[in-house]
Amino acid sequence: MKKNIPGGFDRREFLKGSAAIAGATAVGTLAPFGLARAQGAKLRVGLMLPYTGTYTPLGVAITNGFKLAVEERGGKLGGREIEYFVVDDESNPAKAPENTNKLIQRDKVDVLIGTVHSGVAMGMAKIVRETGILWINPNAGADEVTGPLCAPNIFRTSFSNWQTTHALGKVLKAKGHKTAVFITWKYAAGEQMMQGFKEGFEKEGGKLVKELYTPFPQVEFQALLTEIANIKPDAVVAFFAGGGAAKFLKDYQAAGLKGKIPLYGSGFLTDGVLDAVGDAAEGVETTLHYADGLDVKKDRAFRLAYAKTYKLQPDVYAVQGYDAGQLLATGLDAVKGDISKKADMIKAMEAARIDSPRGQWTLSKAHNPVQDMYLRKVVGKENKVQGVAWKALADPARGCKA
Ligand code: PHB
Repeated sequence: MKKNIPGGFDRREFLKGSAAIAGATAVGTLAPFGLARAQGAKLRVGLMLPYTGTYTPLGVAITNGFKLAVEERGGKLGGREIEYFVVDDESNPAKAPENTNKLIQRDKVDVLIGTVHSGVAMGMAKIVRETGILWINPNAGADEVTGPLCAPNIFRTSFSNWQTTHALGKVLKAKGHKTAVFITWKYAAGEQMMQGFKEGFEKEGGKLVKELYTPFPQVEFQALLTEIANIKPDAVVAFFAGGGAAKFLKDYQAAGLKGKIPLYGSGFLTDGVLDAVGDAAEGVETTLHYADGLDVKKDRAFRLAYAKTYKLQPDVYAVQGYDAGQLLATGLDAVKGDISKKADMIKAMEAARIDSPRGQWTLSKAHNPVQDMYLRKVVGKENKVQGVAWKALADPARGCKA
């Protein structure tokens, strides 16, 4: 479907990217390392994202968003042309060290952009901290990345897992819900979103009566849905994303729970999946740092440009990729493309006020966005904004010593 998208990311381009990687490796044996890094040479950008598996659409949207930010600047950042090096990380944490090293050691990238999956991000973080390479994380919410593992060279343009569900406590309280069940995949993102919700809900006097887990990326929900029907909580809160979210929404309806026990979630549950689920998501309310129908000038321009370029509607992942490009541009502009001036570049990035489609945001001391959390409701094919659930929500950055 995306075959002929100008500047878009499709499988053909991915293969082309792989060929570029192979070519660059051969050249790398001839050209001295410093030459490739010299100012004026192309800036080597490593994209480490999922291009296979349940998070494929997320990886593609982030790639498209990032490239759109670059194209809007004439294909250059800080005056330098960009050369992309692409690795499909398969959302596989076991392969994270090898994949990160492919980009850093083999391809000698100047900056690392990635990834989606929190477990993979944890593998990246260790190497990034050891090497000191500049890393911009355009999705993976692992709290540790801007918590105990925070570092001057680590930036995130998305969210912490804690941030995405914390505001839901207030939302459920306002609806009069006193008990809730949380259902998710058993890995860092699900567990941390559960924790963020639990904290927020208990502060409001609510009680999380059960945590239900299934292994990532499994989508067999039947037994867990039967358990929910038996527990009969006031509300269900879920985190799933990509293909798994679409399957969960359809199964929730098929199990007869829709309309009986109201369903909430972090907004990933309903972002980028509404075309695939018919009316199964209708009325589902979620919190997230992006929504449809925002009164934000930048959002209108972004959505037009994205739709024109890719013949697709953007989602939250596209926004996060776009903002990764914008943040990198801010840093590189400050040093006129000379990425070796790392301290100056980091200073400029830390001070950035990103004019984002989600609304303006700044970075916390731990380099995580301080941003408004919107309450959204699925109406037809849109995650319609209902209001701001939490203004300028900052992750607590527990354990960050930088
Ligand atoms: C994560 O693993 O951090 C993650 C993945 C997909 C999302 C959100 C968070 O939509």
